[in-house]
Amino acid sequence: EKRTKIKHVLSNEPLGESLTVMGWVRTKRASKSVAFIALNDGSSINNLQVVADAEKFGEELLRKITTGASISATGKLVESQGAGQTCELVAEQIEVFGEADPDKYPLQPKKHSLEFLREIAHLRPRTNTFSAVMRVRHALAFAVHQFFNEKEFFYINTPIITASDAEGAGETFHVTNFDLANVPKNDEGGVDYKQDFFEKEANLTVSGQLEGELAAMALSDIYTFGPTFRAENSNTTRHLAEFWMIEPEMAFYDLKDNMDLAEEMLKYLVKYALDNCADDLAFLEKRAADEDKNKPQNERAEMTLTERLRFVLENDFERVSYTEAIEILRNSKPNKKKKFSYVIEGWGADLQSEHERFLVEKHFKKPVILFDYPKDIKAFYMRQNDDEKTVGAMDILFPGIGEIVGGSQREERMDKLSQRMEEMDIPAEEMEWYLDTRRFGAVPHSGFGLGFERMILFVTGMGNIRDVIPFPRTPGNCEF
Ligand code: 4AD
Ligand code: MG
Repeated sequence: EKRTKIKHVLSNEPLGESLTVMGWVRTKRASKSVAFIALNDGSSINNLQVVADAEKFGEELLRKITTGASISATGKLVESQGAGQTCELVAEQIEVFGEADPDKYPLQPKKHSLEFLREIAHLRPRTNTFSAVMRVRHALAFAVHQFFNEKEFFYINTPIITASDAEGAGETFHVTNFDLANVPKNDEGGVDYKQDFFEKEANLTVSGQLEGELAAMALSDIYTFGPTFRAENSNTTRHLAEFWMIEPEMAFYDLKDNMDLAEEMLKYLVKYALDNCADDLAFLEKRAADEDKNKPQNERAEMTLTERLRFVLENDFERVSYTEAIEILRNSKPNKKKKFSYVIEGWGADLQSEHERFLVEKHFKKPVILFDYPKDIKAFYMRQNDDEKTVGAMDILFPGIGEIVGGSQREERMDKLSQRMEEMDIPAEEMEWYLDTRRFGAVPHSGFGLGFERMILFVTGMGNIRDVIPFPRTPGNCEF
């Protein structure tokens, strides 16, 4: 028998037709004469009800059909009398693929906490919440490629093992093929990391940007979309040690062009989700609202999920310089009772996410693009402004999230770049390949990075970044 995915059964409702569906049992309600089985195959947030006559299938078979068991059911689709569904499958044949012992199967038909589900990350895709998040994640990944393809950007694969620390923040994971019993030693007797990857120093990439720049210097418009790794030991709801980043890089773009592209892309992704993930978003919106009811008043979201998505779609992003933002923050009185305590140290300080959220949610009430940051809190490759204090950086700030995008116009002037690298102790001899793009045919260019998981957090309304990636990697979390 040919299998029909439950999503198509539910959307086409081919009443009277004989169909075969396969999936996992969510719940079973049984009376003496009949069993109602809610079946899900991951194609939709919605289950198909399979009706099994008790006498026809017998107690022995029906006993095996418990939450988590996998079955195949063939039968006729009929109109349903029950509430909550318009059609159901009256089974003529049922096969059990795999049982799931109810005494041992951890997912019971009740609400499990997200903390508990994180401990069983291998099974949590079988819950409504995670399957919805994963379908949205897929849709957004697809939309990223579609957006750039429509714009005639080329998708470039940059290396995961690299010798550079693009952000220069020293937050890299070393890659080693050392024989641990025989680690090479340096002159002081310590581990000689200069030799750790086949006699060369190497680490996992923190960003594909620098290699992306090389490609943009030939193909004009490119993007990368791959895993990146940060060894920052921060345990927050917004940071992962392994996350996915989308990094476009464009020749002949200045900072304004860069902001325009980022705003257009973010709106495109939000619109794509609204147009293509309606059922999942409706489920997630209700979930977030239920979750909110258990929170103290001042921690509740001010917008529903749909309102937040519309907030991005329907507003022009407010473009404000870092210097103006600091003035705004300094003139705003801290208020301990509210969720923001936005005291800022002064010009030169980096913004905390509470400052970012204040600007978006309380002050401008729009997504915000902050630009022209102090050069000392930004990476070496950003283009220096004429004031000699700031660089052509831009961060995009979203409600509930804070920074979602970080980018800049790049320093294309060889003398300025070398000088900055010297000031920041970045050894030029290891970056000759990068400097060549400034020596030969240098052009103004720009790019940015979108943290994919932060985007999914925003679109799904989930509260913790560990719950929007199938296998989160955070300090102390790497079980398989
Ligand atoms: O601001 P970041 O560090 O910028 C870069 O890496 C640049 N090379 C990007 C570029 O211009 N091509 O990171 C970019 C984005 C952040 O805005 C944030 O959304 C996300 O990546 N991000 C993280 N997401 C999850 N966990 C972490 N530890 C993250 N660090 C950054
Ligand atoms: Mg950043």
